[in-house]
Amino acid sequence: MKHLIAPSLLAADFSNLKKDVEMINNSEADWFHLDIMDGVFVPNISFGIPILESIKPLAKKPFDVHLMIEKPERYIETFKNAGADLYNVHYEASTHLHRTVQTIHANDMKAGVTLNPHTPISMLEDIVSELDLVLLMSVNPGFGGQKFIENTYSKLEQLKELVLRKNSRALIQVDGGVDNTNAQQLIEKGADVLVAGSYVFKSPDPMKTIEGLKNLAF
Ligand code: DX5
Ligand code: ZN
Repeated sequence: MKHLIAPSLLAADFSNLKKDVEMINNSEADWFHLDIMDGVFVPNISFGIPILESIKPLAKKPFDVHLMIEKPERYIETFKNAGADLYNVHYEASTHLHRTVQTIHANDMKAGVTLNPHTPISMLEDIVSELDLVLLMSVNPGFGGQKFIENTYSKLEQLKELVLRKNSRALIQVDGGVDNTNAQQLIEKGADVLVAGSYVFKSPDPMKTIEGLKNLAF
């Protein structure tokens, strides 16, 4: 399978979201990556349900929703109704993770689990076979535009090994500081989905930047 690209709208122009949604529609991007922050789990507040509801009718690609909130199990149905296709919760934020994953599936969404940079891959041993996606944070969550953490490569190799050993269908996603200096190596080490915020939206030609990430042509 060719790798997927999920631009993060966190770096989009919030005064003209329609323009950036249409840019993604017309680009080679595969998903919309939507970063939800509660100011408690992470030291920042982003956007929430009304924004998803208002862009859903314009968007022609799936919504990959990354919940950086405490107890994400509280909002599964709400985000489903707002248009989420994939509901991705942090390992560190959901005590009864297995139940959370079951509830996500019962609501007809794909289930993802995210690991913070300090959380070992081994924490997923007994849940990875239930998952559709695992996200490795390659920065500390909360802000766009941070520097990529190099230790992600080693975690990526360990996660790939775990996914294969457990015969899991989970796609491997990497999020944070992704750009033309690390994308190729991330794919080579097993990433299936790359999230990119600043690198796409701060570039002079975001559509072309997405094309470069998709085809690894820099
Ligand atoms: C960070 C978010 C990321 C962020 C990535 O907490 O989860 O999705 O938007 O932004 P960049 O690509 O700028 O690091
Ligand atoms: Zn994210």
